[in-house]
Amino acid sequence: MAALDVVGMVGEAGSWRGWRCLGLTLAVITGLCHGNSVERKIYIPLNSTAPCVRLLNATHQIGCQSSRNGDTGVIHVVDKEDDLHWVLETGPNPPYMVLLEGYLFNRETMQKLKGSSRVSGMAVSFSNPSPPGGFSPDVQCPNDGFGVYTSDHGLQYAHCNGTLWNQQGNGLSYEDFQFPIFLLQDKNETEVIRQCYRDHNIPQNDSIPQYPLCAMQLSSHMHAVTSTVTCMRRNSIQSSFSINPEAVCDSLAGYNVWSTLKPINNSAKLAPEEQLVMVATRLDSRSFFWNLAPGAESTVSGLVTQLAAAEALHRLPDSQTLPRNIMFTFFQGEVFDYIGSSRMVYDMEKDKFPIKLSNIHSFVELSQVALRDSSFLWMHTDPISRRNESVDLMVQNLLDTLNNASLGSNVTLAEVNQSQPLPPASFQRFLRARNIPGVVLTDHRAAYSNRYYHSVYDTSENIRINYPDGISQEEALELVTGTARALADVATVLASTLYRLAGGNDTTTVKADPKTVTRMLYGFLVASNNSWFQSIIRADWKGSLEDAPSQYYVTATSHGHQPTTNTPTRLLLSVLANLTGNVVNFTKEECQNPEKVTDAQKDLFSYVWVQGPLNENTTTRAPFCVRSSIRNTLAESPAFELDEWGSTEYSTWTESRWKEIRARIFLVPSHALEVITLVVGITVLVVSLIVTYFINAKADVLFSSTHDSGDVAY
Ligand SMILES: *[C@@H]1O[C@H](CO)[C@@H](O)[C@H](O)[C@H]1NC(C)=O
Ligand SMILES: *[C@@H]1O[C@H](CO)[C@@H](O)[C@H](O)[C@H]1NC(C)=O
Ligand SMILES: *[C@@H]1O[C@H](CO)[C@@H](O)[C@H](O)[C@H]1NC(C)=O
Ligand SMILES: *[C@@H]1O[C@H](CO)[C@@H](O)[C@H](O)[C@H]1NC(C)=O
Ligand SMILES: *[C@@H]1O[C@H](CO)[C@@H](O)[C@H](O)[C@H]1NC(C)=O
Ligand SMILES: *[C@@H]1O[C@H](CO)[C@@H](O)[C@H](O)[C@H]1NC(C)=O
Ligand SMILES: *[C@@H]1O[C@H](CO)[C@@H](O)[C@H](O)[C@H]1NC(C)=O
Ligand SMILES: *[C@@H]1O[C@H](CO)[C@@H](O)[C@H](O)[C@H]1NC(C)=O
Ligand SMILES: *[C@@H]1O[C@H](CO)[C@@H](O)[C@H](O)[C@H]1NC(C)=O
Ligand SMILES: *[C@@H]1O[C@H](CO)[C@@H](O)[C@H](O)[C@H]1NC(C)=O
Ligand SMILES: *[C@@H]1O[C@H](CO)[C@@H](O)[C@H](O)[C@H]1NC(C)=O
Ligand SMILES: *[C@@H]1O[C@H](CO)[C@@H](O)[C@H](O)[C@H]1NC(C)=O
Repeated sequence: MAALDVVGMVGEAGSWRGWRCLGLTLAVITGLCHGNSVERKIYIPLNSTAPCVRLLNATHQIGCQSSRNGDTGVIHVVDKEDDLHWVLETGPNPPYMVLLEGYLFNRETMQKLKGSSRVSGMAVSFSNPSPPGGFSPDVQCPNDGFGVYTSDHGLQYAHCNGTLWNQQGNGLSYEDFQFPIFLLQDKNETEVIRQCYRDHNIPQNDSIPQYPLCAMQLSSHMHAVTSTVTCMRRNSIQSSFSINPEAVCDSLAGYNVWSTLKPINNSAKLAPEEQLVMVATRLDSRSFFWNLAPGAESTVSGLVTQLAAAEALHRLPDSQTLPRNIMFTFFQGEVFDYIGSSRMVYDMEKDKFPIKLSNIHSFVELSQVALRDSSFLWMHTDPISRRNESVDLMVQNLLDTLNNASLGSNVTLAEVNQSQPLPPASFQRFLRARNIPGVVLTDHRAAYSNRYYHSVYDTSENIRINYPDGISQEEALELVTGTARALADVATVLASTLYRLAGGNDTTTVKADPKTVTRMLYGFLVASNNSWFQSIIRADWKGSLEDAPSQYYVTATSHGHQPTTNTPTRLLLSVLANLTGNVVNFTKEECQNPEKVTDAQKDLFSYVWVQGPLNENTTTRAPFCVRSSIRNTLAESPAFELDEWGSTEYSTWTESRWKEIRARIFLVPSHALEVITLVVGITVLVVSLIVTYFINAKADVLFSSTHDSGDVAY
């Protein structure tokens, strides 16, 4: 067993894979020669890591990758800037795997490491507490070029001219790295690596460290290269010429979720004179690392606020008799050049959606809203569309309504300088198509208040959610935090604004519930596996519930296939149904097949059979059927629908496929020993080949009774 590890060692480090057929002989010989070093070559897999992977757009590739069989290097811990000197200049055993302290993961360090051939990869440790100076690997001008400010509309505002929204942004997420980079999520695992480093790699008494040394191997080889144009072309060649097509990249796609206050006929088109007020937030986020996107401030703050407003409006007695309808919308994939909103606008324009752009009376978008400074909530509008007097009048009316709705609340609404352009927002994609009056609400006047935008540190702590030590889950679910109260205030202002925009006239009753907000914040940011979420989710989705924070990264989907409903979408659908739906007296059979029920009105409603709460003193549940007006529609960039892989109009982001993501540490023997092992291996190989050749050639003599011996020999 131990002897076989030596073979593995040579196989990996020397890239002599495929010679394993000779493993046994080789192992025996090597084992005999160097029995003493055998026990040390045990791999320790790292179990809590997240890789940086390759993404591609029309023209570029970004992210990271390893070589085909993974990259290996001697570990060097970089705790402070001076430690880089060893890696880049003086260390005698390159290439190095850098174990980088979280706060050093910045542009300056990366620039140095990127240029060096002495670096084979990097593992970044999660910084706790979060870097005090802030950290955002996104660019300073997110989604540049895909918003409304282009040559047709306010070119002077293009490229964030005037306001750099994400001033913390160092742009690392959009760079291309030629070596693997992993995040170490677990402190204990980081400690295991550090211990191995301390035991073996620290120079003693100024002498150079002695073999064996502690090394790390990171594997994250990516199949796609260059750009989406290249990889999609390869995909299509593969699928037309190969019986067993193997795509190399997938588009980033998922579902937009939307619902209306008054149900609308999903199989028909809304009458042209019907007007609705649209409210929107986004549903996805990202960070430097794959599938890590806590998005507390960037995404969840707005999402939860909209949900609370939706609940408040649905509870109103006159919700079904308001003159205008209200549409609640959650866009998927907005991080990657507005995938969800651009798709909905495209569908509306192409008449593939029950609602048209001309049905939209006004648009209210919630961006990041949890980090309000002294109660201010900022209203952003588009200076270009407001040059049109009739649009400006409607925008002014919208702002007045918001201001009126905030009177007597804890929220102070203020308008930003009218000549300031809109921040990055889904609304920009609607404005691109039509001058709809709208406003974007944020907690920042100009640059983001969020210092951890699109990073792994945008967690519940970032929006100041803290629970006392030792609190039980049930208690945490019910404890109304300050953040929950503040977001409920914003939701109340939003709900009464929407109510008035919809033509309602009785405002005293519109109030969002801080208790619902606090439960949502707990479920969306701390642990989705809680009693409330368990009771409102479909039984077949219960495996999506986790005891850890949810991640809002948009999923990759092979074009032409239905995307899977990813975890955040499942959570959203469940909560939205609970808050805006009604329990109906349907059996499981009827609920899952409403077309069989005469008065189900399937065009108007959707039905979901949820697990229900636990029965008292038992482990069985009491499931029931919930009826709501929720719909989800495909959120894949129109660029893929149109096969315009080089589009500059629509998002073209794809994610590369890979075979294996793996990280592990082990001890490497000296080069001399590796060479000996290799030479022995080659000798054995040559000998075996010769022997095999002769056996084969003389097979009829040796195995004279059968003609199949040739096959058997192999
Ligand atoms: C693709 O991404 C790169 C890196 O962010 C960017 O420089 C480039 O402009 C993008 N290309 C398009 C067509 O958007
Ligand atoms: C990390 O180690 C500490 C002490 O050794 C232990 O209490 C804790 O449970 C460990 N954490 C994990 C995630 O394994
Ligand atoms: C990862 O898990 C394996 C198997 O459970 C264990 O042997 C190994 O020690 C773990 N790795 C670390 C770094 O703790
Ligand atoms: C390092 O030097 C000290 C005294 O100079 C000596 O006692 C110690 O044994 C040395 N350690 C090693 C590993 O050589
Ligand atoms: C919805 O619209 C379709 C097509 O116009 C129509 O057949 C159906 O009866 C409508 N459903 C309801 C509930 O109005
Ligand atoms: C202003 O906008 C309205 C509605 O979009 C449009 O009908 C009108 O023609 C526009 N006026 C000017 C001067 O562009
Ligand atoms: C608004 O911004 C413009 C241009 O940036 C500036 O000239 C103007 O003075 C500002 N107005 C106010 C009220 O700050
Ligand atoms: C609100 O409007 C309804 C009709 O839309 C009317 O019956 C009701 O009296 C109005 N209430 C108030 C307080 O004005
Ligand atoms: C969720 O929590 C329940 C106990 O409340 C537990 O039985 C279940 O295994 C957990 N699910 C996951 C996915 O952790
Ligand atoms: C929503 O969840 C609460 C608490 O679990 C439950 O009492 C209520 O019946 C649910 N409502 C709907 C419509 O699902
Ligand atoms: C629910 O449905 C059952 C059978 O369809 C019926 O007997 C019962 O009266 C219904 N209950 C209510 C509250 O409508
Ligand atoms: C549940 O258990 C509690 C305490 O054991 C008991 O008082 C109560 O009557 C039980 N309820 C039911 C419905 O069995």
